[in-house]
Amino acid sequence: MKIRHKFKTYLLIVILPLFILSIIYWLHLENSIQKERQEQAEWAGSVYQEYIDQVIGETKKKLELLSLSSSVLYMEDEKTEHLMEWIKDTDPRYAGVYWISMDGVSLSGTNKNLYHYYLIEQDDINRAIVTQRAAVAEGKALNNSGFNYFSIFAPILDHEKKAHGFLLAHIRLDHMEKILNILIPDQTLKLETSDHIQILSINAESTTRDSKWVEIPLTEVDWTLSVKKPDTLNTNTMNAFFMFVFFIFFFTHMVYTFVEELLVRREEKKQKALIEKQKIDFVGTLAASTAHEIKNPLTGIKGLIQLLVEKHTEEQDQFYYSVIMKEIERINSIVSEFLILGKPMARKLTTYDVRSIIAELRPIIESEARHFKMEVAWNVVKEPIWVRCTKDQLKQIILNTAKNGFEAMKDGELLSIRIYHENGHAKIDIIDIGQGLNEKDIDKVFEPFYTSKKEGTGLGLFVCKRIIESFDGTIELASKPLIGTTVTISLPLLTNHP
Ligand SMILES: Nc1ncnc2c1ncn2[C@@H]1O[C@H](COP(=O)(O)OP(=O)(O)OP(=O)(O)O)[C@@H](O)[C@H]1O
Ligand SMILES: [Mg+2]
Repeated sequence: MKIRHKFKTYLLIVILPLFILSIIYWLHLENSIQKERQEQAEWAGSVYQEYIDQVIGETKKKLELLSLSSSVLYMEDEKTEHLMEWIKDTDPRYAGVYWISMDGVSLSGTNKNLYHYYLIEQDDINRAIVTQRAAVAEGKALNNSGFNYFSIFAPILDHEKKAHGFLLAHIRLDHMEKILNILIPDQTLKLETSDHIQILSINAESTTRDSKWVEIPLTEVDWTLSVKKPDTLNTNTMNAFFMFVFFIFFFTHMVYTFVEELLVRREEKKQKALIEKQKIDFVGTLAASTAHEIKNPLTGIKGLIQLLVEKHTEEQDQFYYSVIMKEIERINSIVSEFLILGKPMARKLTTYDVRSIIAELRPIIESEARHFKMEVAWNVVKEPIWVRCTKDQLKQIILNTAKNGFEAMKDGELLSIRIYHENGHAKIDIIDIGQGLNEKDIDKVFEPFYTSKKEGTGLGLFVCKRIIESFDGTIELASKPLIGTTVTISLPLLTNHP
């Protein structure tokens, strides 16, 4: 049963949270890896896109500028050719620069081998004529020098804005590839026209169907740049995951140990309370059985005292007999009240002025003091202090605590008893200057059978506490070793008593 219970706690505190948190963390890791891949590909894509757009944009501008001057020069072959050579030579990106007729045929340029070849498609020509701006020709071609290129061309416009030829530049794709590789090495990318004609591809042979791509449109031309998301990342996710699992495992075990400790303590407390209750039950049974036995001889003693009262009529004797009778009565009722420890019964509380109880108790405590060879100092307020209690029991409590005080002190020392009220409570302080108690013993004094005395029962304060609680009051003990002890009895003060 206990093992099953332990396993249940372990399952709830360690296994389940570990399992759930690990899954949540794994999903979170997955998610952040995907995000990181996406971000990495997007960043590489933006770098590539900027470069490609820059190449196209710059070439367009150059061609437009040159075509402007060409229209001014009106194609004086030699000068234009010279300019074309100059452009090609100053920029390694260019494979060649050409002057094209309205039909798309090369008239002159940097590569004589391409003379009289169709270098621009009719569709592209129409597009440039409509926009009157430089344009990128769709598709790529293989140069006879062995490298790929794509074409950018600009219309040569006369003063009426009418096109009568084109200037065209071939952009070397191998050169672009080299630069892109330098910008960010080991990246996989594709550049495609809107008709899905592949212009450029780097490392694309290693891709599979499952490869994920990020697409970035170019601004200078209606082409799409696709960058592959990286398959692996440099961050060691597995390590991070295992570290996390280890940490959670460690943490949940700490919580588990803590909870187990708490449960054990609670169980111990329960056990202690049970033992306490058993003790009380035992005392109750004992008190109940002895009460009867004590009452019978007491009745006998009472009868005999009665006879003595009748026999010795002197005033002094009568006073002694009356005290003895009162005390016998007290013993009688206290013995009866012992039953409270076993069977709580309906108690009959009466309203008393504490001072009147003290007045009755004073000769007894003083005779006790004489017996112990000690002094008693009384400090009682002048106004009445009304409380609800059972007179004999309150006497019993004060007498018990006073006796404890006497027992703790040496000959000739002083016990102070203060009766006052404070914050709606009647208070009785019994102060001694005796040996005092250690802090750890203070908690034990109200436990049944706790005693440090050879002849003590250890029931005195226990019974006091039980009784005072039945009056809705409290009894507290404050003590310092070798300095002394103060016992404070507190009872609710009746304010509206007539
Ligand atoms: N005024 C005090 N100064 C020092 N120790 C005290 C004082 N009052 C109580 N104690 C300690 O608390 C213990 C329990 O007191 P309690 O009155 O319950 O039993 P007891 O005095 O030992 O026995 P009994 O009351 O039956 O004579 C005492 O044995 C003593 O160690
Ligand atoms: Mg005692």
